[in-house]
Amino acid sequence: MHFLALLLLAVPALSHPAKRDDLLTLPIVPLSPCTFLNSTSHLLGLVPYEQQRIQSMRTYTPDSTSKSRVADARPSAKTIPAINYQYVQYTAVIGVGSPATTYNLVIDTGSSNTFVGTGKKYVKTKTSHTTNQQVYVSYGTGYFGGEEYLDQVTLGAGLVLRNQSIGVASSFAQFPGVDGILGLGPSILTQGTLYPSLNSEIPTVLDTAFTQRQVPDRVLGVNFAPTSSSNSVNGALTFGGVEERYAAGITYVPVTRTLPSGYYWGINVSSLDYGRTNLFKNDVGIVDTGTTLVYIADDYFHKYKAAIPGSTIDPITGLLEIPPAQLSSIQSLNFSIGGRAFTLSSGAQLIPQSEVTAFGGRTGHYYSYVGPMGSDSGAGFDFVLGQKFLERFYSVYDSTRNRVGLSYTEYTFTTTA
Ligand SMILES: *[C@@H]1O[C@H](CO)[C@@H](O)[C@H](O)[C@H]1NC(C)=O
Ligand SMILES: *[C@@H]1O[C@H](CO)[C@@H](O)[C@H](O)[C@H]1NC(C)=O
Ligand SMILES: *[C@@H]1O[C@H](CO)[C@@H](O)[C@H](O)[C@H]1NC(C)=O
Ligand SMILES: *[C@@H]1O[C@H](CO)[C@@H](O)[C@H](O)[C@H]1NC(C)=O
Repeated sequence: MHFLALLLLAVPALSHPAKRDDLLTLPIVPLSPCTFLNSTSHLLGLVPYEQQRIQSMRTYTPDSTSKSRVADARPSAKTIPAINYQYVQYTAVIGVGSPATTYNLVIDTGSSNTFVGTGKKYVKTKTSHTTNQQVYVSYGTGYFGGEEYLDQVTLGAGLVLRNQSIGVASSFAQFPGVDGILGLGPSILTQGTLYPSLNSEIPTVLDTAFTQRQVPDRVLGVNFAPTSSSNSVNGALTFGGVEERYAAGITYVPVTRTLPSGYYWGINVSSLDYGRTNLFKNDVGIVDTGTTLVYIADDYFHKYKAAIPGSTIDPITGLLEIPPAQLSSIQSLNFSIGGRAFTLSSGAQLIPQSEVTAFGGRTGHYYSYVGPMGSDSGAGFDFVLGQKFLERFYSVYDSTRNRVGLSYTEYTFTTTA
């Protein structure tokens, strides 16, 4: 679905290893069988819901410029599980406090504040410190407000952050079934979210892991995979590096300087082609783990739709419905990025029949994962490569080198019935 979004105090770089009692293996608990797509926010359908987030992201401006920090130790990268939730969201189980309370947080590279409290309440422990700062973030599709704390955050066994800055939500809207967000976007997105320290940036968990020398690099690797179950561990986050099996195949491109995409994990796609139909050349948009579908600006989308005869927008879901007679003619959708074509095959564009009802569609009908953004191109934010793209390609978010990486995986061309 969709969610987007400092340094309060200099976080001391701690060089001593984690004490034994700090190490915690986080349980992977099945999420409550919440009706994520059935809640009020989704009655209008997924597409209009996500369009609200995208339109809000498009108008983002920060309050000041970001700073970067360096460290010198070389610990190893660490990988934790990612859980697919109802086909539309990825979450991670994160511990806060000591003893830790565990929270299911949305994995969101499109926002950068980490917070808890929208489901399970914040539990203060001996490691909880108030900062006397209020925090407020609007996501286009919802918001949270509350108080900012420093607390121990356990990302996984052996990855325990001291005094990570986190929000504690006391008022919020539209976070059904989850306890908050793990914000993994660029930290510039946190500017203006604290009060009274409006010009401060909040370090993300990755920034903190790096400055506390627990990971070797400010790099996040994301492994999502097509899912055939509404609640399964089918992904992984690597803090501090990339999964070795993908390393050699990654194509890197710089984060675009074109704003507002450049505030996010924004990239330049040099050409988008549906079969032999060009949808656009040289335009910018973002890669976002917090958006479910693949969105392209409306004018580009209309070319895609026109290239699939008989396709119509389903008024209930906002999804593009494809006539059964056209299924065998679906062409590849090629995103040319960094000189390489990243291909969504016809199987990667279609919602599997087993998931159609979860998206509000009708069994026996066929829908595309590619949707219209809700506005025309030209605003420096003209596509969003969400989870359904990221389930086909490994993705890398490199704050140190200000670049995004993508790699083919064993799931790029698989099909799900
Ligand atoms: C969706 O919501 C309706 C009304 O609140 C409820 O009756 C129905 O059981 C829900 N469906 C699912 C799949 O949870
Ligand atoms: C965390 O920050 C608080 C308040 O600044 C400080 O008192 C405490 O010692 C810090 N804890 C650690 C483990 O650095
Ligand atoms: C799309 O990419 C595939 C390889 O993934 C390639 O075979 C095909 O020719 C490309 N199509 C276009 C129109 O570039
Ligand atoms: C995208 O990249 C191409 C080729 O590197 C360049 O010509 C173009 O100006 C870029 N477009 C934008 C919007 O950054």
